[in-house]
Amino acid sequence: MFFLRVSKTVYGEGARRKCGEVLKKLKAKKVLVITGKNTGKTSYFKDVLESIDSIDGDVTVIDIVHGEPDREVVNEGVEYVKSHDAIVAFGGGSVIDTAKMVSTGKKIEDVESDKIERIVKLVVIPTTFGTGSETTCASVIKVGSIKKGFLHESLLPDYAIVDWEIKAPESVASSSGMDAIMHAFEAYTCIESEKVNFSFYSGSNEITDTLALKALKMLRNLPEYVSNYNYAREIAIGSNIAGIAFGNAGVHFGHAASYAIAKLSGAPHGVCVSSIGQALMDWLKNLDSTKEKVERIAKIMSIDDVRKRVKLPSLSELGIGYDDIPELVKTTMSIKRLVAMRPEIDERAAREIFEMALTY
Ligand SMILES: [Fe+2]
Repeated sequence: MFFLRVSKTVYGEGARRKCGEVLKKLKAKKVLVITGKNTGKTSYFKDVLESIDSIDGDVTVIDIVHGEPDREVVNEGVEYVKSHDAIVAFGGGSVIDTAKMVSTGKKIEDVESDKIERIVKLVVIPTTFGTGSETTCASVIKVGSIKKGFLHESLLPDYAIVDWEIKAPESVASSSGMDAIMHAFEAYTCIESEKVNFSFYSGSNEITDTLALKALKMLRNLPEYVSNYNYAREIAIGSNIAGIAFGNAGVHFGHAASYAIAKLSGAPHGVCVSSIGQALMDWLKNLDSTKEKVERIAKIMSIDDVRKRVKLPSLSELGIGYDDIPELVKTTMSIKRLVAMRPEIDERAAREIFEMALTY
């Protein structure tokens, strides 16, 4: 058994100008717009505000998000949300993840993970392609020094607007683009849905496989996008459908390892997760259940070739060495929710994958 969750989505070059129409469909009258300190200064954002003006209601703008989403920013947003009936989030994954939690109207410390409920409509407009947050049920918020993941169907936005005219800076485009490639790769190679007992993630199935493969075909153009914004449509849609694939199938060892690598290196998520990509793929080449799938991916792209072309560091270039492997293995294997999605990778295999990654 498996299921499919996906945000209603408007796709198009310039689609941000449809924000007002989307809000009208949702009958929103009092809109809280959440953005970041930098994204709030762009001309794209002005277009969004102009479009929202057409609903003839009340609009409050807060540009509170800067850097990673944390408890303090969410709690600040919650102060505003109660007098509104909809949120528009305009920004990268951090802004969207913040908006998802603000939409519950509860301070982070009062949110019960299994009883999350939104109190307002939620429309999201990603300004960087890769996180897939516009079409997933997940939000990751920093609480103190710990990153806490919230996972609930209520966090799925009512509408997403995917507009590839919006251009992210080069460094963000490369790391979040590699993240999207890893979403598609891990969704495609994670445990098969018939082996998953009904859980939040379904495992891979015909729908997520189709989306993940198509996503990889579109995302192999990432280097051309990063260097001169060619293939913007492919990168935007590829990232989005990679988001649908992993938001339903799940991800596995690569994402678990990325948290361990981030803990040691402090590097952005897309950088960490892609530093383990090729080694994971090479290990899965010898596993019966993933062999054929890995061959299919290899015909589309080499993960390390794309990583190098977008100038992201290898695991050793992140300052990680052989001495770090025991700690990396321990942290990775403790993220059971993710490693369970490819259970053949045990502690010994994990060590092998990290060792391999250090030679690339
Ligand atoms: Fe990711």
